[in-house]
Amino acid sequence: MITPATIQQILNRIDIIDVVGSFVKLKKRGTNYLGLCPFHNEKSPSFTVSPNKEIYKCFGCGKSGNTISFLMEHEKYSYVEALKWLANRYNVEVEETEVSAEVRAQQQVADSLYILNSFAQQYFTNILFEDEEGQNIGLSYLKERGFTEAILRKFQVGYCKESRNAFVIEALQKQYNRELLVKSGLAANRNDELVDNYRGRIIFPVHNTTGKIIGFGARIIKKNDKAPKYINTPENEIYIKSRILYGMYFARQVIDKYDECLLVEGYTDVVSLHQAGIENVVASGGTSLTTDQIRLVRKYSNNLTIIYDGDSAGVKAALRGLDMALEEGLNVKLVLIPDKEDPDSYVNKVGAEAFRDFIEANKKDFILFQLEVALKDAQGDSQKKAAVVNQIAETLAKISKAEDFTKQQDYIRQCAELLKIEETGLNNLVNKFIRERVNKQEAKWQAEAPVAEFDQPPLQEYDTGSDEVFQLLIKDELQERAVVKALIEFGLKAWDESTKVADHIFNELVDEDLFDNPQLMDVINTYRLWYDAGLEPTAKNFFYHENQALSAVVVSLLEFPYEVSEKWKNKFQMPVNSREEIYREEVISTLGYLKLRKIKRMMQENQIDLGKPHTPEEQLNLLQTHQALKLMERELLQHLGTVIVR
Ligand code: CTP
Ligand code: MN
Repeated sequence: MITPATIQQILNRIDIIDVVGSFVKLKKRGTNYLGLCPFHNEKSPSFTVSPNKEIYKCFGCGKSGNTISFLMEHEKYSYVEALKWLANRYNVEVEETEVSAEVRAQQQVADSLYILNSFAQQYFTNILFEDEEGQNIGLSYLKERGFTEAILRKFQVGYCKESRNAFVIEALQKQYNRELLVKSGLAANRNDELVDNYRGRIIFPVHNTTGKIIGFGARIIKKNDKAPKYINTPENEIYIKSRILYGMYFARQVIDKYDECLLVEGYTDVVSLHQAGIENVVASGGTSLTTDQIRLVRKYSNNLTIIYDGDSAGVKAALRGLDMALEEGLNVKLVLIPDKEDPDSYVNKVGAEAFRDFIEANKKDFILFQLEVALKDAQGDSQKKAAVVNQIAETLAKISKAEDFTKQQDYIRQCAELLKIEETGLNNLVNKFIRERVNKQEAKWQAEAPVAEFDQPPLQEYDTGSDEVFQLLIKDELQERAVVKALIEFGLKAWDESTKVADHIFNELVDEDLFDNPQLMDVINTYRLWYDAGLEPTAKNFFYHENQALSAVVVSLLEFPYEVSEKWKNKFQMPVNSREEIYREEVISTLGYLKLRKIKRMMQENQIDLGKPHTPEEQLNLLQTHQALKLMERELLQHLGTVIVR
C-alpha cells in the first residue's frame, strides 16, 4: 500500500490540465479547457476540463471524473497504477506502508515465482534451440507443424527433456528452493524426490499483461493415452486461471487498434495465428469464460469474436460464458471452423488471407447461434422447446442498456421467427425478465449505493406552487445534499469557542433518521471516521478516494447549485444571503430544512392515517399529533427565519 503521505504529495502536485493534456489536445475557453472527447468519436469538442474543480466532463457522452479516474479510464490503470504514474510524472518518491507479515510473505512468494519462472523459461528455450534432444525432438516437431523459429522465440517457447530431473538439478544448483519448485508446478514430488514435471514436453510460457511469466502449458509430443495432453501450472500466488487469457500480452495493443478480440481455444491456435499476422487473438484454454476474463477483454475492446472448431466441447463451454459477456456489454460473434480443423490447422491449410476472409464471411451472431443449437437439441420435444423459449428470453433480457434497445427488438423479432412463436409473446416474456432484473438491481443499488448524478435538474421546475414545494420537501434529497456539502465545506470552521461545525452537525444528526440516500450517509460516516481519527478532511480527500462512487458523490456535491435552497427561502419568505461569511447560519438552515422535511413527512403520514376509519379516541390522538407537528413546523420556520434575517 502506498502511504497516505505519498498520496498527499501526489495529490498536491496534480495538474489536471497537464495530465489530461498529455492525452487530449486542449484549448482554453474562459476558465475551462475544451477538447475532443477521447472516450467517444466527435467532430466538435464537448470535452471540458475544469482546472479549478480538478474535474473533466464530456457533454457529448457524459463521461466525467477527476485526474485519477481519467488515467484509470483512458489508460486502463488500476487506482494504484494511476497513483504510481502520477508519482513518476511529478517526481514523488513512492513510500509503501508496512504490510502485514502475511501479505509480505505472499508478495515474497510471488516475486520468487516470477524469478523462478523466468529462469525456467530461459532454460527450456535454450534446450529447445541448443540442446541435441531439444532440437531433434522438440524443435523438429514444432517445425514440422509449421512454426517458424522467429515466432517460437517471440512466444519464448521451450522444451523439457525426457530425463527424470535435468531441470530440477539445474534449478537446485541455482539455489531455488524445493518448496518453490513444487509450488511453481515445474517439479513434482515423488517419494521425497523432486522430478521434472514436464518431461518430454513442449513448453508454452504464459505471460501476464505486463509480460512477466506466470506459468506454463506443457504439451506432450509422443502420443500417450495415459498422460494428459497438456499439463498446466497449478493455481498459486501468481497463476490464477480464471484471470488468464493466453497471449494477451502480445495481443492487447492490436486488440485496441482493431477494436476486436479474437478468442480461440488453445496455445497453438494463438501462436499460429500470430505467425500468420493475425495478432488480436487470445486463448481461453477451452474452458468457459469467467467474468474476470471478460473484463480483461473489455479493457481493450467490446467486440469479442469466438473462433472454435465446430464439434469441440469448447463451444459448449464458451456458450456458458455468453450471458455474462452480454451483461458486461460485449458484442459476441462466433465463427465455427469446418471439417474438424482448428484455427491452427486451418490457417496452416488455407493461408492467412483466406483465413481472414473466412472469418469475415462466417461471423455468426452468438445469440442466434445459441438458439439454433438449442432448437436442434429440442427437436419435437415441446417441453424442451418451452425451456428454450424461456432461456432465450432470459438471455435477451440481459441486453438491457437503453442504447441497445433496437438491438434487443431485432433479436426478439429474429428469435420469434426461429422459434415459430408470436413476437408479442416473446416480447412479454423478455419484459418479465427485465422487470425481475430491474427489481433485483434496485435492491442491489440500495445496498451498494448508486453513483451520483453529476448535474442537477433545472431549478425552475420546482417553483410552481405550494403543492409541488410540499412534494419537493418530502421527496427530494436536496436537503441531505446541502447538509453534506456544508459539512465538507465548513466542517473544520469554528462553531463556538470549543467546537467545530463538524461536531455540531454530528450532534444534530445523532440518532436521527434523517437521511434517505445511503451514499450521502456514507460520505458523512467516512468524514466522521477521518475526523475522529484526528485528520482534517477536505473535499480533496473524498475526491481522490479509492472508492470511485464516493468520490463521484462529492464531485456532484461541489457542482450542487446553492440556489436551490433560495427557492425554498423565497417560498417561505426568507431573504437570501451569500454563503461564506454566514456559514453558521447556513449550517443551521440546512439542518433545519432537513428536519422540516421529516416533519412534513410525518404530517403527511398522519394525514393519510386521518383519512382512514378510526375510533373517536384514535381520531383525537391523530389530531393531537397533527397539531404537535404543526407547532414544531412553525417553530422551526420561525427559527430558520430568525437565523436568516439575523
Ligand atoms: N487443454 C488443457 N489440458 C488438456 C487439453 C487441453 O489445458 N489436457 C487446453 C490447452 O490450453 C489447449 C486447449 O485446451 O491449448 C485446446 O486443446 P486442444 O485443442 O486439444 O489442443 P491444441 O491447443 O489445439 O493443441 P494441438 O494443436 O497441439 O493439438
Ligand atoms: Mn490444435
